[in-house]
Amino acid sequence: MTTFLKKHSRTHSCGALRAEDTDSEVVLTGWVDTRRDHGGCVFIDLRDRDGITQLVFDPSFGKEAHDLAGELRTEFCIGIVGKVLSRGGNVNDKIPTGAIEIMVTKLEIFSRAKTTPFEIVDDLETNEALRLQYRYLDLRRPKLQRNLRIRSQAAQLMRSYLSDLEFSEVETPFLVKYTPGGARNFVVPSRLNPGSFYALAESPQIYKQLLMVSGFDKYFQVVRCFRDEDLRQDRQPEFTQIDIEMSFIEEEDLQKIIEGMVVKLWKEILGVDLPHPFRRMTFKEAMDDYGVDKPDLRLDLKLCEVTEAVKSCGFRVFEGAVDKGGIVKCLRVPGGASMSRSQLDGLTTFAKPYGVKGIAFAKIESGGKWKAPFAKNMTEEAVAAVNKIAGSEEGDVLLFCADREKTANTCMGAVRLHIGEKLGLIREGEWQFMWLTDPPLFEKDEDTGKMSSAHHPFTSPRPEDVQYLESDPERVLARGYDLVLNGCEVGGGSIRIHESELQARIFTALGISDEEAKQKFGFLLDAFQYGPPPHGGIALGLDRFLMLMTGAKSLRDVLSFPKTQKGTDMMSEAPTPVSAEQLKELYIKSVVEE
Ligand code: AMO
Ligand code: AMP
Repeated sequence: MTTFLKKHSRTHSCGALRAEDTDSEVVLTGWVDTRRDHGGCVFIDLRDRDGITQLVFDPSFGKEAHDLAGELRTEFCIGIVGKVLSRGGNVNDKIPTGAIEIMVTKLEIFSRAKTTPFEIVDDLETNEALRLQYRYLDLRRPKLQRNLRIRSQAAQLMRSYLSDLEFSEVETPFLVKYTPGGARNFVVPSRLNPGSFYALAESPQIYKQLLMVSGFDKYFQVVRCFRDEDLRQDRQPEFTQIDIEMSFIEEEDLQKIIEGMVVKLWKEILGVDLPHPFRRMTFKEAMDDYGVDKPDLRLDLKLCEVTEAVKSCGFRVFEGAVDKGGIVKCLRVPGGASMSRSQLDGLTTFAKPYGVKGIAFAKIESGGKWKAPFAKNMTEEAVAAVNKIAGSEEGDVLLFCADREKTANTCMGAVRLHIGEKLGLIREGEWQFMWLTDPPLFEKDEDTGKMSSAHHPFTSPRPEDVQYLESDPERVLARGYDLVLNGCEVGGGSIRIHESELQARIFTALGISDEEAKQKFGFLLDAFQYGPPPHGGIALGLDRFLMLMTGAKSLRDVLSFPKTQKGTDMMSEAPTPVSAEQLKELYIKSVVEE
């Protein structure tokens, strides 16, 4: 048991002391970051969440403390009493406490530490699996400490911003009804109802709409969501949304509130004044110019379409794709002719995973002439027409992908970013927010032809498109919007349907029968029989926001205890098999071979 803390309470954090504090008596606690022995004196860098302070153990100052200091090793947890001394001419500019050091008079070792499996420092290349296994040690790193503190600050700011606007935070269930479609759900067996399962909520969507029916008017929740998806850098199986829903609003009302919140966050946390209102871009414009629904506007390169210009150009790769109803998408890279042949050929390797056969390229020479492996096949008219559309200039390179529309867009969208990165054209440090608007209501499966909701089935179509619901559903655009930051979708929402008759037409378009709709969403449809208000909302991905705000490379760096790409927790080793008895109690039989 420590007697130290009975007698002394901490006076400062390890990041707090400055030259003005010279001569004061202080009590500090923390972990041994580094230790050096110098001719009779022991120097320790003491670390806590706030920073580092240098301690000096000099036998002439505190004999007992100095002797005990001989036992200190990195990551020992200690408390000290000492006096602040000025470092005089030896100031360490690298740390905020660099003007002072502490002459230690008393030391207590609270606990000792084994040699840690990796050094507790930022920017060290170590095996990430090992770091995740010892996450509690990795979290001692200054960068992760900072990220999680910013996360806390951001969540508090969002809460107070919304509360000030009279939003109520209402909690909704995690254990919900399983509804197929949408994100894949985690399922939870119900012991009390043999053979039945809950789903873990993928979002509070239906509940927040029900709260609107109940008259809550302005709802928000900082809420964990669960999705059994294939994981990537920007996806975790459990993540946090700032979930919002409002009644009696239009798109702009909601967007204004979100912009106000984001502007405040950037100002108060990053000290940055964001220009606003944010730019708006339609889904179509985004696809045409950037090939994706979340353009990174820190990069000025734009795509163009040359389908018409090349439909009888002489090059069979282009012609063939157009004949099959595809498109030819082009990216002009100014000055790109300096790229080497192998760099350009490498683009085909880069693009293959997108399901395309290749990326054709043409270097622009004087007079707009093309230097390309296939140049001799191209008619002069086609070359001139493409040059005109692309705005070619001598020294550029044109890149082409000929394929089905969706494939060509996705592929060239990725090539655009890839080139931007390779050539260093992405302006780091810029914050490019935009609203993506007017997305299609439905998505058609290219193979089966089946329609599904692009967002979720409660999203309202634009009034002017309702007439096409039956005759030309692909033409129907939604009252939906995504918030995009630097090429990342950080939020998405929509104005909802509140008329049962329109909702029924949407279900029909989706091939969902009355019975199926009743079985899946019956309680919501019933609720809509009792005066639902017009309403809409949005959910912001808190983790993605934080990833971008802190400059982290992965969501893992803004989460306390993240999961790996395979959804495992390296530290606790979850998920694990459970005992046969446990399964029996839940009426479940595992079919995995022993
Ligand atoms: P959506 O599914 O678009 O909308 O999710 C909203 C935002 O949540 C973030 N997000 C994720 N973040 C980390 N890991 C994931 N696996 C993950 N999935 C989504 C994204 C995304 O923009 N109920 C609707 C919102 C609404 O209509 O109001 C919804 O959940 O940043
Ligand atoms: P090929 O005639 O198939 O050898 O292709 C000639 C060039 O066109 C090569 O550089 C390929 O990478 C490229 N290419 C092939 N298929 C496509 C396509 N669908 N779109 C764009 N370029 C392609």
